[in-house]
Amino acid sequence: FSKISASQHSFRDCLNHRSSLPSKFIFTPENQSYESLFFSSIQNNRTLLNSPRPLLIITPTQESHVSAAVLCSKELNIPLRTRSGGHDYEGLSYTTTSSSFVLIDLHKFRSITIDLTDNTAWADAGATLGELYYAISFQSNNTLAFPAGVCPTLGLGGHFSGGGLGTMMRAYGLAADNIIDARIATASGEILDRGSMGEDLFWALRGGGGASFGIILSYKLKLLQIPPKVTVFNIDKLLEQGAIKLLSKWQQIAHKLDKRLFIRVILQVVDDQNHRSRNKTLTATFQSLFLGEETELLSLMAESFPELGVKPEDCMELSWIRSVLSIAGYPPGGSLKKLLDRKPQFNDLFKTKSDFQRVPFNDEVWEVISGWLVGQNEFPFMIIDPFGGRMDEIGETETPFPHRKGSLYNIQYIISWEDPGVETARENIDRMRNLYKFMTPYVSRDPRAAYLNYRDLDLGRNANRNAGYAEASVWGEKYYKVNFRRLAQVKFKVDPENLFWNEQSIPPFA
Ligand code: FDA
Repeated sequence: FSKISASQHSFRDCLNHRSSLPSKFIFTPENQSYESLFFSSIQNNRTLLNSPRPLLIITPTQESHVSAAVLCSKELNIPLRTRSGGHDYEGLSYTTTSSSFVLIDLHKFRSITIDLTDNTAWADAGATLGELYYAISFQSNNTLAFPAGVCPTLGLGGHFSGGGLGTMMRAYGLAADNIIDARIATASGEILDRGSMGEDLFWALRGGGGASFGIILSYKLKLLQIPPKVTVFNIDKLLEQGAIKLLSKWQQIAHKLDKRLFIRVILQVVDDQNHRSRNKTLTATFQSLFLGEETELLSLMAESFPELGVKPEDCMELSWIRSVLSIAGYPPGGSLKKLLDRKPQFNDLFKTKSDFQRVPFNDEVWEVISGWLVGQNEFPFMIIDPFGGRMDEIGETETPFPHRKGSLYNIQYIISWEDPGVETARENIDRMRNLYKFMTPYVSRDPRAAYLNYRDLDLGRNANRNAGYAEASVWGEKYYKVNFRRLAQVKFKVDPENLFWNEQSIPPFA
């Protein structure tokens, strides 16, 4: 009877004692489905290199199951990890450096209730964006929508609590900006809503990341009116088609365009099909969502970005929900049920980093960046999302997400690979670190900002549960800027013993 099985037994006994969680919702490594359940939502297999597996996986269906698990974690001193959609770039929802932990997987905790009388919805944290978008569109007969991320398998629990940016942020802000209530199980096992938790904790949950404060159970969302038709386009431009000049113009105007117009750029290295002398080139894909009809989009583009040369044949008018399918990379005319598929769309190994840019790069910088990208052995890419519009109207301290007025765009750097070997991982992580270092002179500084939802443990990590505020400020101020201090003070109020600790949780600070 090993120490591990003793801990498993104690946790199970504690759960039995404290809640009515049926044993079929508790999985030990001996259960046949433990392995498939563990892997079911993992996106980044790099996070599994050398990481321990959970002692138990619990799949609650009721709020009381969650608070019982919190109390058992406290009583037995066994850490919890909470997973909603499993997309964490560093795997903090299902791995830890502490050897024994219990995983709460919320995939069964995912009901969504839409109220058409006041255009709101209550959505459980374990629901995915695809499930939410589908339910809103279906029940409102495609008249309502919600602004959040692009990938339908993202879980609401992590995505909303870390901000949640997407194609409608220039019109409506982040997902977190449109949350009007939340329910959370705290370290004391209590279940609180906005009224009982108070405005400080409610503020923290909208961009501060949920994992530091408790287990978020559900959110109440303000839904938004959407026109019956929106318009999308995707235009690829190679280096030899003037990609750099276009990028240069794009960054001058993308944040100033009509709020309803979102044009992001995906910059990637591709095999050069046309030139035998070189075997790689760079493509800039201009991907757009306009919350209106094609004719209006064409006239806006002709006025503000004629160089891109958008033509009617580049555009597609469709319902908002079909634009979601299209931007997520699915055929826009395909079954909308695809949005309900929780299976990870990507299942490889990757490393990601981010920046927020406040001053446009000059043309030479784009040339240098493209030369660097093309010169690499692997195929790194960058996703560049424009800010401005509604994002400028929300103050830096209104939510913990501080990257507001003055942030022109967010850059996400990604490198992915297939070989599961540790050596390949090391090489690719080094490549990504080199790219990040290479970008240093050109991007924002003091602090060099980063986006919490694009989590990066290279920025710093808590060595253990006792890691303090000063140590954590190194990475905390990059994600939250001036808001880091208030987040640490809220943490002190709601979880002074730091039960909800992880490698990048906010430490309590009085
Ligand atoms: P996951 O379950 O891994 O949780 C992430 C973090 O939140 C962990 O620390 C976890 O413990 C915590 N957490 C989860 N549920 C919780 C709960 N109920 N209560 C408390 N804490 C909880 N981002 C973006 O803004 N826009 C985008 O378009 C995209 N697109 C995108 C595509 C792909 C393929 C990936 C892999 C990632 C993105 N992201 C993104 C990043 C994404 O927003 C980020 O990884 C979110 O944290 C994912 O939330 P999940 O619930 O899926 O993750």
